[in-house]
Amino acid sequence: MRAAREPAAKAARKGILAVMRDLATLDRLQGVIRELQLDDELAVTDTVDAALRRIRGGLAPRVALIDIAEATAPITEIGAARAAGGPELALVALGTVNDVGLYRDLVAAGADDYIVKPPARDVLAAFLDPQAQGGARGVDAGLGPVVVFVGSRGGVGATTLAVGCAWLVAEEFGERTALLDLDLHFGTVALKLDTEPGSGLCEALEQPARIDSLFIERAMVKVTDNLRILAAEASASEHLIVDAGAIDMLLYELRRKFRRVIVDLPRAASPMQRVVLAAASHAVVVGERSLAGLRDTIRLQTLIREQAPQAQLWLIEAGASGHRAQIGRTEFEKGLGKPFDLTVSFDPKAAAAAINNGQALPIAAAKSPVVRELRQLATKLVGDAAAPRRKFSLASLW
Ligand SMILES: Nc1ncnc2c1ncn2[C@@H]1O[C@H](COP(=O)(O)OP(=O)(O)O)[C@@H](O)[C@H]1O
Ligand SMILES: [Mg+2]
Repeated sequence: MRAAREPAAKAARKGILAVMRDLATLDRLQGVIRELQLDDELAVTDTVDAALRRIRGGLAPRVALIDIAEATAPITEIGAARAAGGPELALVALGTVNDVGLYRDLVAAGADDYIVKPPARDVLAAFLDPQAQGGARGVDAGLGPVVVFVGSRGGVGATTLAVGCAWLVAEEFGERTALLDLDLHFGTVALKLDTEPGSGLCEALEQPARIDSLFIERAMVKVTDNLRILAAEASASEHLIVDAGAIDMLLYELRRKFRRVIVDLPRAASPMQRVVLAAASHAVVVGERSLAGLRDTIRLQTLIREQAPQAQLWLIEAGASGHRAQIGRTEFEKGLGKPFDLTVSFDPKAAAAAINNGQALPIAAAKSPVVRELRQLATKLVGDAAAPRRKFSLASLW
């Protein structure tokens, strides 16, 4: 797991990886490789997912060309490729839209450049020729990291932890934090903070074209100077179809505006879940020590390995399970194949204080053991320096 996340060693980098279905572009790419007489091997995959699997399997290309023309979540895909390929990878996006805004977005997400198709031979050659290339620029995405909380079962305390953690990161560590509740119908983030969710999130997801910095500003609810939430309370009878592209855009805007984005993610398998996981730098899974909890913690672990290979996975022993925690810890951890990273205490008194006051745990029960444990989690998150800030200014490229 850990080895797969580490960028491939510099010396071993070899070959060209193309995520491409467009035969004409592929043809041209092969032509340029021949003309330059490169001895790099060309690996071609259909999807970014498949490319990431190859990278995890040990492929360490020096150049990756990703065709985003048909991608539903291009920014997330480029971000995932950068995270998996490491800073040394020369990462080039190709697409059909000639737009400076898109160019900047892709570069901010981790691309070294964006080429509008059909690519000119000399442009391709400039990227492929090791002499001309002068190495990748080693860009770090300038976007805030995304931390995803997901419960193995309902009622395990995932939302309570997400809210408490967001609070600590914002108030004790002073990071501008966005807390996003993606359970659009039954989410409880706003409820737990005694605020109205507003209608902004649903509007944004229904009309992704409207998502921009100003729109997000208006749609978010202020909890403190440093903490904003974005949540919804869609009618229980309303069937919402959320487009992956809308979530991609939303996350991108949030990551630009905030130092950290914390997501309370429902368990349902959906395109939305895929995009969020692909963007995650950390995935916190709250495991309940019951039989169903074991089954679902294992399944979530697998899901995250597949869909968020770049993410650091943290397994937390749920505090809220109480009498449902019937499996012994050792036995449970044996079933999981790894120990819990943190245990949250069963603390109904602190939980009740938070609910009754409509406050996050660190305010409602500042001295409780749960808050001490939460602080450990928040400290790890912040200390992880998951997103080194941008090393160069975008303006310098223009
Ligand atoms: N550590 C804890 N100990 C006891 N009760 C808790 C704890 N954490 C949360 N709770 C309570 O458990 C219930 C479910 O919590 P919630 O965070 O909404 O769970 P989830 O998001 O996993 O469904 C709430 O009533 C909450 O107050
Ligand atoms: Mg919840």
